[in-house]
Amino acid sequence: MSPDVYKLVHVAGLLMVFMSLGGLALHGINGGTKDSNGARRLTTLTYGIGLLLILLGGFGWLGATGMLSQGVPGWTWAKLAIWLTIGALLAVPAVKPELSRLVWFVAPALGVLAAWLARTKPF
Ligand code: HEM
Repeated sequence: MSPDVYKLVHVAGLLMVFMSLGGLALHGINGGTKDSNGARRLTTLTYGIGLLLILLGGFGWLGATGMLSQGVPGWTWAKLAIWLTIGALLAVPAVKPELSRLVWFVAPALGVLAAWLARTKPF
């Protein structure tokens, strides 16, 4: 498959994850709880599928462009750590709603860092 298709899959996953996280964080900021979230299933499902698409698109891209020939690049490991952190942020607004505002700012900062890592491949 063309690397461009994998990149689109990667970006589709990113959009799904960040949209869901924004919704969950806003719900938490507004004092919402797990039970009062009428779109809980929708957001967690979108989040889960999005996380999967990010991985599929990312590794698909690496494979399709031959970047895995010498093993997983260092910057990819750093992105995997960011991916795990973003994945864990899902629970924060429900478990610790007082940290929702922090999630609102930390998530895009991590996204920018992940984009920078892919762009510059510093290690
Ligand atoms: C939530 C975490 C992540 C975010 C926010 C993110 C974000 C991005 C963005 C915005 C780009 C486009 C950069 C550009 O072309 O200028 C990109 C490219 C890419 N990402 Fe991710 N990414 C994440 C996780 C991952 C993971 C886990 C992998 C693992 C394989 C990965 C692999 C890649 C690859 C291979 C590219 C293309 C690099 C290139 O153009 O050579 N990303 N990512």
